[in-house]
Amino acid sequence: MSTDHGINTIGVIGSGQMGGGIAQVGAVSGFSVVVFDQSTDALAKCQALHDKLLARAVEKERMTADEATAAKDRMTYVSDLNYLSDSDIVIEAIIENADIKKDLFSKLAEKFTGNQIIASNTSSISITDLATSVGDAADRFIGMHFFNPVPVMKLVEVINGLATRQETTDRVLALSTAMGKVAVPANDRAGFVSNRILMPMINEAFYTWMEGVAQPEHIDEIMKLGMAHPMGPLRLADFIGLDTCEHIMEVLAEGLNNPRYRACPLLKQLVTAGRLGNKTGHGVFDYSK
Ligand SMILES: NC(=O)c1ccc[n+]([C@@H]2O[C@H](COP(=O)([O-])OP(=O)(O)OC[C@H]3O[C@@H](n4cnc5c(N)ncnc54)[C@H](O)[C@@H]3O)[C@@H](O)[C@H]2O)c1
Repeated sequence: MSTDHGINTIGVIGSGQMGGGIAQVGAVSGFSVVVFDQSTDALAKCQALHDKLLARAVEKERMTADEATAAKDRMTYVSDLNYLSDSDIVIEAIIENADIKKDLFSKLAEKFTGNQIIASNTSSISITDLATSVGDAADRFIGMHFFNPVPVMKLVEVINGLATRQETTDRVLALSTAMGKVAVPANDRAGFVSNRILMPMINEAFYTWMEGVAQPEHIDEIMKLGMAHPMGPLRLADFIGLDTCEHIMEVLAEGLNNPRYRACPLLKQLVTAGRLGNKTGHGVFDYSK
């Protein structure tokens, strides 16, 4: 594999859970990173979290104080898209909504007409579909699916859309390696590989709970001890966000044209009640204490 990614500056769009993690890993790996979000509040939270996580890494002797300062200095936080113009790649990590993502990508393609790679961290939306919003830039459009928490998880699932050019794929594979990740290619079908297999398992755990087969903690215990999973499916659902899980099931049901992928009614009900998991302090399990 070529190590020639030709990338110095990474633009990250969306400074939430995933964008923040991608930015941090990029900066720690030596890249200049420009983080964009439409919410200045989200940017401030992201910056504060970077400060905290890098300070903790120094405390735990995973990096020196100088390295942490250098990583922080390599990150800029901006609320104007124009500041991304010097980025060699932009990695989008905004809300999982095809229309909102497409609207952003069409603006990006209009502004940045050079050789800039446009990557999406979408968990489930078709890369070929998203690429329809960028016109001629579809050959430099690709899926770069990181896993949560990004600084810890090694995998990047790299998804080629129908029009993605080989050079784009090679550069993204090389970039992922330079970011300390293991990049694994997958083709563009709903859910790719990871969520196509993971989400139906999580959905089934909700059905198992709904039908009274076992209590949530027992379902998780059985899956942890019996299958050697580090976390049970319901705890994992809380961690991912129940709204995200519901949305991915909808994408699978539509994209694979099969009702067996429909979200479990109990999962939907918890989302309706605002029990979204860790981020709201209550999902399947209660984290308020
Ligand atoms: N959370 C996960 O476990 C996980 C894992 C892999 C991939 N993903 C994908 O990553 C993406 C982001 O997920 P997240 O969990 O980080 O979400 P999040 O809600 O934590 O962060 C999203 C950020 O995007 C910003 N945003 C929303 N719309 C925007 C716009 N139009 N322009 C600029 N900024 C905008 C929000 O202000 C927010 O800060 C989604 O596509 C999701 O499917 C999530």
